This record gives sequence, C-alpha cells and structure tokens, in this order.
Amino acid sequence: MRVPLIVKVGTFALAVMGVYAYYANSIPQIQSTLPEELSLEGGNVTPEQLVKAGEGIFKGKGTCEICHRIGQKGTRAPDLAGIGATAAKRKPGMSAKAYIIESLLDPRAYLVEGYPGIMPKVDRPPIGLNRSELWATVAFLQSMAGTVDVKLDDIPKTAGAVVAAEGAAQGAELKLPGDPKAGQVVFMGKGACIACHKAGAIGASPIGPDLSQIAKIQTPEYIMAKILDPAGMGTMAGYPPNMMPPTLGQTLTAKEYIDLVSFLLTLKGEAAAQAPAASKQ
Ligand code: HEC
Ligand code: HEC
Repeated sequence: MRVPLIVKVGTFALAVMGVYAYYANSIPQIQSTLPEELSLEGGNVTPEQLVKAGEGIFKGKGTCEICHRIGQKGTRAPDLAGIGATAAKRKPGMSAKAYIIESLLDPRAYLVEGYPGIMPKVDRPPIGLNRSELWATVAFLQSMAGTVDVKLDDIPKTAGAVVAAEGAAQGAELKLPGDPKAGQVVFMGKGACIACHKAGAIGASPIGPDLSQIAKIQTPEYIMAKILDPAGMGTMAGYPPNMMPPTLGQTLTAKEYIDLVSFLLTLKGEAAAQAPAASKQ
C-alpha cells in the first residue's frame, strides 16, 4: 500500500512532537534561578512600580512588542491601547481583570475578531513568564485606560509552573534532531521560503512576515504545523490568505522538514532588528 507523503511527513512530525513533549516533561523539577527573573512575591510594591515593571516585561522578556504595538496595529496582533477598558466588554459577565489574565494564560479562549489564534500561552516556553511577571504585566495592561487593582493572588498558582519546573527552560535549550545549517539550505533552496520571508541575516522579501524572531515568540509545535498546514493555523492579520504554499508536506522529505524546523528554531534575533518600527510610531 502506498502511503501518501503528506501522511508520512505528518506522522513523522507528530512523532517528533511527541519526543519533544516527552523530553520537555522529563527535565528535572528544579526551581528556576534565571538572573533576569523578576520576583515580587512577598515584597512591598506600589501599583506604580508594578506597572513600570510590567512595561519592562512587555517590551523585553515578554516579547509582546514583536506582535503587539500600543497605539498602532501590529503586524501580528491587535493594538492594546485602551485594553484596560476594552477588556471589560469582551466576554459578558467577565471582569476586565479576569479577561486580561485569561488572555495571557489561555489566549485561544477568546479570539479578537480578525485575528487567528497564534498567541502562545505566555507562561510557557518560549516566553515563559513567572507569576510575578504575569502580575506586573496584567497591571501594565490595566493601566491603559483601566484601574490597576490586580493582586498577586489573582494570578493562578499554577501559572508559570511549567517553566519553573523545567528549571531554566530557556537555558536548557531543547533541541530537535535536525541540522539547522542544512535547514537554512532548504529555506533558501527547495523550500523557497526566502522568496517571501526574511530570516535574520538572510532574505529581504516583505511578502510574508519577517521570521527573524520567530523562535522567541512561537512554539515548535506552531512552527511545525504552520509549514505542513498553513491555512489550518489561520492567516495572519494583514496578509492575504493562501499565500503560503500548502504542499510543503508533500514536497519536502522528512529530513528536509526537520532540518528546516531546526533552522527556524535558531531565529531569535535581537529586538534591535525590529526596534526602529517602535520609535517610528
Ligand atoms: C505571536 C504573536 C503574539 C505574542 C508574542 C503575544 N501576543 Fe497577545 N495576541 C496575539 C494575537 C494574534 C491576539 C488576538 C487573537 C486572540 O485574541 O488571541 C492577541 C491578543 C491579546 C490580548 C487580548 C486583546 C483584546 O483586545 O482582547 C491581550 C491582552 C494580549 N494579547 C496581551 C499580550 C501580552 C501582554 C503579550 C506578551 C507577554 C502578548 N500578548 C504576546 C498575538 C501575540
Ligand atoms: C509565496 C510566499 C510564501 C512562501 C514561499 C512561504 N511563505 Fe511562509 N508565509 C507567507 C505569508 C503571506 C504568511 C502570512 C500569512 C499566513 O499566516 O498564512 C506566512 C507565514 C509564515 C509563518 C508564520 C509566521 C508567524 O509570525 O507566525 C511561518 C512560520 C512561515 N510562513 C514559514 C515558512 C517557511 C518555513 C517557508 C518555506 C518552506 C515558507 N513560509 C514559505 C508567505 C510565504
């Protein structure tokens, strides 16, 4: 019996994702001690300090700005100006605070009209905010046209637990069994990704989104699925649908595919690469 290639690659992808999840889960349970971690638990902190800390997370570790702008539609996500007030109207019976917290921990629970569910859970890798950081981020979001009244206790105790359990998830660098160098060759050659995407030092096409920071904002699962089934992952706001070739699962071999994903997972460009857009307003 002939098995269609897409099924083969698809099954292979699932197997790799399985191994990946297994590996992620098998990392010893140690408390994270990353130096850049913000811990406010137990400390006295004024709402102003909290909002300021949250703004820093929004622009820095949270990587929110790669997708969201304030006062301006981002290329990947809605404008968050006024979210402190808008949030109260999103779900009937849900407070602004509860909605904002849900938006961070379970972004797909409510999708803003016109946007696909591409926002990752921000208390998981690769973003991996801890409870204090979530608390501060919520305060910052509330400060935009709302009342800052979030308490640490409003953030579920389980939030950020995955990252804490994994120890330095970002430091422990999970690796796929692919060859990023070979993947870059696929990106530039057979995959023809470069015709539409910039990726760090290579490419310049504005047809598709810049992938230079994709590994900072997206999970391996999303990247893998987007390549095999671009439309199934939803079309990014501001881009025409069905531009991404839907046939990559058939045309790439399993090795090419996994090398390509490994290459994409190296794309963690510094914010400076995109920073000018922020100041351009
Ligand atoms: C990969 C891109 C991406 C990243 C990174 C990202 N978001 Fe989002 N976010 C989205 C998209 C797309 C939506 C709209 C779809 C939805 O509702 O989930 C959204 C929705 C939201 C909403 C709800 C907005 C509304 O008007 O109801 C909030 C709040 C939010 N994001 C906050 C954040 C914060 C804070 C961060 C950083 C810690 C962040 N996001 C990181 C893509 C992203
Ligand atoms: C003909 C142009 C074109 C080609 C070729 C193409 N893409 Fe895309 N890609 C797009 C467009 C347009 C989008 C945004 C619309 C959407 O979501 O489908 C996109 C979206 C993506 C995204 C999601 C980005 C994000 O920020 O969430 C990834 C990942 C991606 N492409 C990877 C690839 C890879 C890897 C290849 C090569 C195997 C490739 N693309 C080939 C046009 C293309």
